[in-house]
Order: sequence, then C-alpha cells, then structure tokens
Amino acid sequence: PMYMETSSAPTNIATIKYWGKADAKWNTPINDSVSVTLNQDDLKAVTTVAASSSFEKDRLWLNGEEEEGAAANKRFRACIDGVRALATAKKDADGKVLVTKEGWSRMKIHVSSYNTFPTAAGLASSAAGYAALVAALTLLFGAKEEFPGQLTTIARQGSGSACRSLDGGFVAWRKGGEKADWSDSLAEQVANEKHWPEIRAVIMVVSDAKKDTSSTAGMSTSVETSLLLKHRAETVVSKRMETIEKAFLAKDFETFGQLTMADSNQFHATCMDTYPPIFYMNDISNSIIRIIHAYNKWAGKIRAAYTFDAGPNAVLFTLDEYAVEVGALMLHYYPEFGENYVNNPDFGMKIKA
Ligand code: DP6
Repeated sequence: PMYMETSSAPTNIATIKYWGKADAKWNTPINDSVSVTLNQDDLKAVTTVAASSSFEKDRLWLNGEEEEGAAANKRFRACIDGVRALATAKKDADGKVLVTKEGWSRMKIHVSSYNTFPTAAGLASSAAGYAALVAALTLLFGAKEEFPGQLTTIARQGSGSACRSLDGGFVAWRKGGEKADWSDSLAEQVANEKHWPEIRAVIMVVSDAKKDTSSTAGMSTSVETSLLLKHRAETVVSKRMETIEKAFLAKDFETFGQLTMADSNQFHATCMDTYPPIFYMNDISNSIIRIIHAYNKWAGKIRAAYTFDAGPNAVLFTLDEYAVEVGALMLHYYPEFGENYVNNPDFGMKIKA
C-alpha cells in the first residue's frame, strides 16, 4: 500500500531580519527575527508526500521537475528524518494497526511540491516550501511534538525562515543556544492572524530572476567579514524585537513601520559592509524607498513601510484605509506594475497579510 497526504504553507516576510548563522549544522541564527505570515491563498507552497515500502529511494519533484540526488540533501533529510522520529502508529477506523511507528522507517518517501510564486526571487520561497514539507510529513506520519514548537525546529533545519511559516499572524524565531542540541531555537506565535486584520502587504515583484547570491552563501560571508553585522546581532536586534512585538500587539503602525524600514535598511547595509559586498536591491528598489519616505513625509505619519529580503522585490506594509492610495502611488511611478498586476500574477501581487 501507499499512504499519501497534502498540505500547504504560506510564505512570511521578516520585519526584523534573520541574517547570519550561529551554528551551520543545526542552522541556527545569530539573532532573533520576526515576520508576518502572508495570506494562505496568495503566496504558498503546496506539497504532497507519499510513503511506500515499494519505493526504491526518497525522491523530490519541484514544480514537476525531479531534483536529482535529493535523498542525500542535508536539508531534505533533516525534515524527513526529523518528523519521522516523532511518528505514531497509523490505525484504521476499527483501531487495527496499519503501520507501526517502526514501520514508517521501512518506507521510502516521494515528495512533490508546487510554488504559486517565483522561486528564489527573494520572496522566501524556501520558507513556504520547507514549512509545507514539514506540515505534510506531520500528517503522513501522525507526528506528535514532544514540546511546543518542536516541529518548527525541524522546519528550521530545512531553511531558517521556514520555522516562522508554520503559524499565521506575527511569528518570532527565538535564536536559542542555551541547550546543546539547539532545541530552544524555535518559532513562537506573537499574535495570530485575526489580531490585526487591517494590516496589508503589497508585493512589488521588481524582478522574478533568480537571485545571484543565495541567502546561505551571503550570510556566511557577512558573518566572516562584516563588523556591522556583529554589532547588529549583539546590541541592536534584541531591543528592536521587544519594541516591534509590543507595537504589533498594540496595533501601533507608526512604530511597526519605522522599525520595519530601519531593519531592512540595516540588513542591506550589512550586505554592503560584507567583503566583497553583496547588492540585493536595484535602482527600482531604491526609488521605491525614496517614494515611500516622501509619501510618509507628506502624510505627516507613516502610512506605508517597505522591506526587502535577499532580492530587489519590495514588500510594502500598509493599513486598509491607505491600501488604495499606496497602490495608486506605485502605479503613478510604475504603470507597468499595474498592468502586470492585472494580467500576470507573477509580477505584482496585492495581498492581505
Ligand atoms: C533575508 O531562511 O533563506 O529572507 O536558513 O540558509 O535557508 P537559510 O536562509 P533563509 O534566509 C532568509 C533571509 C532573509 C531574512 C529573513 O527571512 O529573516
């Protein structure tokens, strides 16, 4: 027999960024981070997993194409083996055991995953991908956590940012490090998706080309060479975390927006401080920053806040009451954005966080 389950996970956008690993083996960060999980329906990965003792090896298909050698990939292995260690016996409706806990380890796993958005364009597709993989495996193996957040520690070993995509709303990744096995480096929901329904995310896909420096490689060079990154991890982030979590809970957009922009800017400054420097933003990204500051200055308060990950695409946070205005402002400067927004879901997406 073959057992099969499907699950999906949305991507998330960090407002305080993860950049730099403390431990490469466990994939743990040098500082805490926090993100907004986007709406399920708009940007997500959908993953189907199947288990059978007649499969010869573990295999993975991404958007329909097989990834050769996936069975030996460290990130993929960590997720399969990590969730399988928490497996429970599978029973039918009458309580008869179909697969024992040990039985799962005699089976090979086939995984097929689809993205609804451009891969590796700096839109954290790996976050949604590994979160969906862990979610689907959890259903397949009937996995039970031994402590709250344990599944996020497994997703984190797939991709760091993935640990923040297993929950909706505002989700913090606590860096951990008190425990030798890093089991305290896990994600925790700060506020659920119903807490602040007025907050909106507008995604501007400036380019859907694959980024030229992967996050993993980029952050490794930054840790080796950037003194600004060291300063940031040691003295800046913990205060920002406290303030932004309070701001989100109090629905204080002024503070939330100001810190989101400042932290995006500091992350890109650490990229510039990396030697040789890494440039993720382009001229369009920079002009979006200028427009947003001019707009907020005109309004006399923060109505929109930008943030950029490891790529040129902007994510703008705003509130329901300004969403149309922010859209119109962007269309004024970038009419092609609107056209593509209507015609091509890969270019511009307006979504509700
Ligand atoms: C800039 O989670 O992709 O998006 O752990 O090496 O897979 P790995 O890195 P990844 O890095 C994301 C970096 C970021 C900031 C963030 O999402 O916090």
